[in-house]
Order: sequence, then C-alpha cells, then structure tokens
Amino acid sequence: MTRALVPGSFDPVTNGHLDIIGRAATLFEDVIVAVAHNASKTPLFTIEERVEMLVEVCSPWPNVSIGTFDGLLVHFALEKGVTVIVRGLRAVSDFEYELQMALMNRRLSDKVETVFLMTGAEHSYLSSSIVKEIARLGGSVEGLVPNCVEQRLQQKVTDARDRR
Ligand code: PNS
Repeated sequence: MTRALVPGSFDPVTNGHLDIIGRAATLFEDVIVAVAHNASKTPLFTIEERVEMLVEVCSPWPNVSIGTFDGLLVHFALEKGVTVIVRGLRAVSDFEYELQMALMNRRLSDKVETVFLMTGAEHSYLSSSIVKEIARLGGSVEGLVPNCVEQRLQQKVTDARDRR
C-alpha cells in the first residue's frame, strides 16, 4: 500500500487544493492531508479551524485523513509510514520553491519521494493568499473555495470589521 502526504498551510483550503487532494486520492490507496503549524507565518485561521474545514470538505474521499505537524515534514512522513509527498504545481513561478523543497526533503530522507501534479488550468491563478485578500477587500470568493470556507471567511471579515 502506498501512503501519500499532501502537505500545506491550508489557510484556508481552496478549490485548487481540493483538486490536488482528490486526484491524489485516486492515485494512492491512503492519503494524509498534513496541515503545517507554520510558526513563521501568521495564519488567518487557527490550526483547529483549518483542520475542521479540511475534515468537512474531504469527507467524500474515504481514503483521505487529516493530520497536523510541527517541525520537519520528512520526520512526520517517516513517522506515518509515508513514502510519497504530493505537491501541486501551478505555474513556472512555483517551480523554484518547489524544487528547493523537494531536493532538501530528499537530502533529509531518501525514503520519501516528492511527486508533482499539475494543477487544473481553472485553478492556476488561485492561492489561499489571494482568496484572503479578495475576501478582506469585499470581493466575492464564490467558486474559488468550498461553501463552508466562504462562510468562515465572511465571518472573519465581519469579526475584524466589528473589532475596528
Ligand atoms: O502551503 P504551503 O505554505 O506552500 O506549504 C509549505 C509546507 C508547509 C509544505 C512547507 O513549508 C513545509 O514542509 N514546512 C515544514 C518544515 C520543513 O520540513 N522544512 C524543510 C523542507 S524544505
């Protein structure tokens, strides 16, 4: 059985992430979506909120589970018996960063291979950061994120406005 990992910040999960997770679920018997604590970033959603959203939107895939990790990704992968890390590639601009991560992860452990899935063309311009910016500035994110994520984003925007 090949167990794969789809790691990321997922702050929040977008339809682009779901495209990659769904395709990984058809390629591998067992898929763990690994949410990074990412101490160096200041996320909009707490790790608990990000996991809750992922649990809800990944429920159609019985072979997909959600986990969280702190520290090195390869350590988490080895701990979970994972042999494949799956990453989505959107554009050439992603390549340098992804190559650096894949090579560094291989240097850290040659027991874990990184594979890349080309993102669907309709998601090639999509990122969690741009979705957050659109929501914050009052634009519509319909069709870019799942409905439950859209609602939570609206709530965050409203809460931030009320605090001002
Ligand atoms: O969604 P993102 O923010 O592009 O995901 C990046 C992530 C979380 C996969 C990456 O930052 C990561 O693996 N962080 C864990 C720390 C680590 O293992 N660093 C060494 C790999 S180069």
